[in-house]
Amino acid sequence: MKSGGDGPKRFHLTTFGCQMNEHDSERMKGMLGALGYVEAPSRADADLILFNTCSIRESADSRFIAHLGEAKRLKGEDPEVVVGVGGCWAQSVKDEVFERYPFVDVAFGPGQIHGLAEFLASDSLTAQGYFGLEGFAGHLPAHRERPFQAWVQVSQGCNCVCSYCIVPSTRGREASRPAPELIAEVGELARDGVREVTLLGQNVNSYGRDLRGADRRSFAELLREIDAIEGIERIRYTSPHPKDMKEDVARAHAECPAVCEHIHLPLQSGSSSVLKAMRRTYDRSRYLDRVALIREHVPDAALTTDIIVGFPGETEADFEATLEVVDEVGYDGAFTFIFSPRRGTEAATLDGTVPHPVKRERMGRLVELVQRRARERAQRFVGRTVEVLVEGPSRTDPSRLRGRARHNKTVNFDGTAGPGDLVEVEITDATSQTLLGHEVLLSRVG
Ligand code: 5AD
Ligand code: SF4
Repeated sequence: MKSGGDGPKRFHLTTFGCQMNEHDSERMKGMLGALGYVEAPSRADADLILFNTCSIRESADSRFIAHLGEAKRLKGEDPEVVVGVGGCWAQSVKDEVFERYPFVDVAFGPGQIHGLAEFLASDSLTAQGYFGLEGFAGHLPAHRERPFQAWVQVSQGCNCVCSYCIVPSTRGREASRPAPELIAEVGELARDGVREVTLLGQNVNSYGRDLRGADRRSFAELLREIDAIEGIERIRYTSPHPKDMKEDVARAHAECPAVCEHIHLPLQSGSSSVLKAMRRTYDRSRYLDRVALIREHVPDAALTTDIIVGFPGETEADFEATLEVVDEVGYDGAFTFIFSPRRGTEAATLDGTVPHPVKRERMGRLVELVQRRARERAQRFVGRTVEVLVEGPSRTDPSRLRGRARHNKTVNFDGTAGPGDLVEVEITDATSQTLLGHEVLLSRVG
């Protein structure tokens, strides 16, 4: 049921894409709450239908378009319904959105949550677009899904020029938030019961380069200051760039008790010539040096990565170089993507398109290797007792609990703890994705 004129207005928000988008959505929900909106259980019940979109690959676009079709139908049934489209896809098409999808009332780029607020407060009858890349949504109150976990956006935008990536054009130049502001925010979160923070940035470990004076910290210094905040037991961050993964960050992992033993280090390709065409600014051996540096300081660290298959010009030998790196590093997990040409990017103009069947065949071989290595790596946990932050019941078996180890592995286990508890779990079995075990009861310790 919609509000029907009396009672609070209801919104329904669907989020696509990365954690930055998830976090933007949390802040959208916080803003909507402040404006008196409540969440509707389904799109059909909503006065305001919102989408926070992604444009990283073509598959992200097409998934979203199917959902947008439902919004069109609902708006056709009830013209009072307001349809809003935010995020990276909206930014990449800008005002064209209103020409192609005339039922859309408001469109806004990533982080332009104030644009949505302005629109809702204005009683505007005409479609509005908010696509500026300036401005920071960092201080908006967020509606957190779990009271004990929070995202903290440390920077926005990206100064890299990776030739395949649409993000620099959708999220703009990099801008860091002043360190004292971030430290105060994490302090407040800790007082509010947050135990785990995930620092977010498109290129999170280049944090601080654009700051001056008392505002400025390096990423490693920021990790150390957040580590010192009472109540923060776990610090994660995503996504770093290998070029900025220096010794000071590895040392912070080794020396700060709260900084988790997990690093996501996007490889993209194991071939130096493909890396060059991707404009990643490192080659295979520099990447492997960074892995060695991490392992020197944090020998047990879990490493995960992103890999793109079928970049223009990728030969069989290039692809085999990727397989070699995957085998050599032994990732604990990897996100694997088939190259998708994105509008306005350099890679979309490159020759040497890899035929689709070849891309698929390479993807199959890559996934098989990634899973085998992840499964092998996971065996090191069997017999160990690991600290788990409990998130809730297991998705497959509600009589068991689910949580996350510091290494970012999902752990399904028998136990009595509640969401937000930190417990010790003895691991009895491991697959490539998850660990299995049982809670170690206090009476059994010592
Ligand atoms: N095609 C395929 N994968 C891509 N990624 C980014 N852009 C593209 C693209 N055009 C992948 C990269 C990145 C992850 C978030 O998405 O691996 O690290
Ligand atoms: Fe998608 Fe990239 Fe935008 Fe995140 S930053 S929503 S992954 S396009």
